[in-house]
Amino acid sequence: MLLRFIALVLFAGLGISPALAAPAQSLAAPSGAQLFARNCASCHGEKGDGGIGVPLALPSFQASISDDYLRQTIHTGRPGRVMPAFSSLSGEEVEAIVRYVRAWNKGPSVTYSTKPVVGDPAHGKQLFEQYCVACHGVNGEGAKGTGVTFSRPRDLPIMAPALHNPGFLAAAPDAMIKATLMKGREGTPMQSFLKLGLKEKDIDDLVSYVRSFETQPLASSAKVARTESPVIIRESPYDLNTTVERVKTAVTTHNFFYGRVQTLEYGLTTPEKENPKQVIVYFCNISLLNQALAIDPRVGMFLPCRVSIFEKDGKVQVMSVNPKVLSQLFNNAELNQLCDQLEQHYTEIIEEATL
Ligand code: HEC
Ligand code: HEC
Repeated sequence: MLLRFIALVLFAGLGISPALAAPAQSLAAPSGAQLFARNCASCHGEKGDGGIGVPLALPSFQASISDDYLRQTIHTGRPGRVMPAFSSLSGEEVEAIVRYVRAWNKGPSVTYSTKPVVGDPAHGKQLFEQYCVACHGVNGEGAKGTGVTFSRPRDLPIMAPALHNPGFLAAAPDAMIKATLMKGREGTPMQSFLKLGLKEKDIDDLVSYVRSFETQPLASSAKVARTESPVIIRESPYDLNTTVERVKTAVTTHNFFYGRVQTLEYGLTTPEKENPKQVIVYFCNISLLNQALAIDPRVGMFLPCRVSIFEKDGKVQVMSVNPKVLSQLFNNAELNQLCDQLEQHYTEIIEEATL
């Protein structure tokens, strides 16, 4: 016991976390800093300074949000946009993240009334078309290109979020939308419309128009039929090596160039331990690649193209992810089209190889 204590003190002093300390650590309250680093920093920046996601540490942002808004946003995300829903985090973990993010707030914290703002949505629509669509999109669907640096204009370093979005509308009460329009968000392209000359009555009309989105879901949003299978899979009548050769041939007849074959475990273990019965064929099409990257660099997630070939219990299966399911991540008609095109290629390649 004493030895263990000494070991702990020693290790703690050295900043090493030994296996001994692990159980104690996992019982402790979740650390907001760690949870933020793990779940949010990749998009919002380690210090909340923004990236693919909007900056969360900006004083003007902190001044305009409530804890509830943050809590709800983490919980439901922004369906169809890049911001995921973190439904797998526990209530305690969400609270830890909320406290961590709110520690960036140096001003007083606000809570918003849930009382609806009363306005004229028809007039709000006119104003919206005049003042908002350039950034927030014709239907408030958010900036085009979904937010990655390459796909937004350089003079707009922060992309405009989606307003016509069930996640946003559920999280933001009217009073918060109104406050954002009255004060703007200093340090971002979102300005104070009071300063730009609108009257408070106009702002109420805008708020009531934005609220009306709730009852008019967008037809064009990136909905993917839930019945879509996440993988394209076919059984091959050939042995593994013949199937690999047939996939290579099918790839070239579809105007892709064949890249390489690797075992699934390549680089993950020593070469002699790799299972030769699980391989991946990589292929690519430069013009498709360039076309896709020009729309959004996130397509890098599913390029180069790959088809996996497995042999198990004497059966050979050929499989790929279904790119249509990946398009769920985007809210971009052009990308959806591209995913449809890829799905068609994959299906044809796999079917030709297993014919
Ligand atoms: C020049 C581009 C631009 C214009 C014009 C603009 N916005 Fe924004 N808006 C933004 C950006 C960027 C943000 C995100 C600010 C941030 O990072 O805090 C934003 C944030 C918002 C938010 C808060 C949304 C959220 O998720 O926090 C609301 C509400 C909003 N805008 C409404 C409007 C309305 C209504 C109009 C028209 C009257 C308008 N905006 C005009 C760029 C713009
Ligand atoms: C995969 C990237 C990604 C991850 C991971 C991510 N976000 Fe976001 N987040 C975004 C994007 C992009 C937006 C803007 C939404 C839009 O475009 O409509 C956003 C929006 C938000 C907003 C609303 C901002 C506003 O202007 O009102 C909050 C709050 C937020 N995220 C918090 C978080 C927290 C906390 C986490 C971690 C638990 C997290 N996000 C994880 C990308 C991400």
